[in-house]
Amino acid sequence: MRVSTLATLFSTLLGAATALPVIEKRENTTSSEALGLSSISGLNVTYSSPTNASLPNVVIFATGGTIAGSSASNTDTTGYQAGVVGVAALVQAVPELLGIANVVGSQISNIGSQDMNATIVLRMAKLANEILCSEGSEVDGLVITHGTDTMEETAYFMDATVNCQKPVILVGAMRPSTAISADGPANLLQAVTLAADPAARDRGAMVVLNDRIAAAAYVVKSNANTLETFRAVEQGYLGMFLSSKPVFYYPPVQPTFKRTFDVSNITELPLVDVLYGHQDFDYLLIRAAVADGAKGIVIAGTGAGSQTTPSMPDIDALIAKGFPVVASSKVNVGAVVPDNDKSSFIRAGFQNPVKSRMQLQLALASGYTLDEIRTSFEGILYDYLY
Ligand code: SIN
Repeated sequence: MRVSTLATLFSTLLGAATALPVIEKRENTTSSEALGLSSISGLNVTYSSPTNASLPNVVIFATGGTIAGSSASNTDTTGYQAGVVGVAALVQAVPELLGIANVVGSQISNIGSQDMNATIVLRMAKLANEILCSEGSEVDGLVITHGTDTMEETAYFMDATVNCQKPVILVGAMRPSTAISADGPANLLQAVTLAADPAARDRGAMVVLNDRIAAAAYVVKSNANTLETFRAVEQGYLGMFLSSKPVFYYPPVQPTFKRTFDVSNITELPLVDVLYGHQDFDYLLIRAAVADGAKGIVIAGTGAGSQTTPSMPDIDALIAKGFPVVASSKVNVGAVVPDNDKSSFIRAGFQNPVKSRMQLQLALASGYTLDEIRTSFEGILYDYLY
């Protein structure tokens, strides 16, 4: 059979599966106008679908990352540029989305997530509260497209700060949009489907990649290169997608160790440094962090958060002055367990170092005392143990 005939046969066979969805009852108003989002300050709406009153409403915050990445070669899965494609192009690449929800896209940033920062995450948390949680809001869910490198941090932050039962879904991709078998379009379709689904309510923020749904509070990136990367090793997934429809393993549940913070009066997040534990770790980096203006320190300690003998006098002196030093674990899985006598450094429990950093920033910005910070990290696990 000639190649052109084969191609015709394939396109006929595939026609039904690849046909664009029929979108009915769309009105002339855009979803952004219909939802009253056009006037929200700081919400940079760059895509808005026509409205269909019978569909749920989903807002997408686009921040960049590999899902918006591009490369000259379709075989590149490294060395590409992250954060190139805009939110309108991301949505238009997945027209099936418009059969699922009215979609409003806001370009918050277009960066690799290594450059995500306190200013942007705080702005997103405030905007998310305004859009999702204000009285009379008709927005059903929020999707944040994000680079995978620091997704677990932003996911943790949104989980801790946006709490009105409605879902916040973080989504990314491991392959750029130009790659053969790019994973972004399917991930985005699943994220919007999840955000629009009433079954996603009361579960906190979630991360969606590679057909899996994970709780933001526990998920970590576990592989630098492959699609199978987001895991909650101890706690497991909340659910998965079958034919792009979410299937939950459990009824709605929130993480046991979840702490929530009100960001409405927070205008900036204090500097908190993470120091990496290793053999011969001493006081030098601790002193450098304090001298450079850190308001708190997280040490990614060895094992279950153990600290080296030469570092302990400095750690204890800081704690005695009311300066928070939190010990998490560079192992990333398992708990740093509170001491019975609540002395010396603060133990992070199940919070990994980067999530501990965000929790400490939020606690400091909320005006917590050292004791309150200790309770926010140790309290629940302490009550389990003692
Ligand atoms: C990034 O985190 O922005 C780049 C890597 C990725 O998105 O997978």
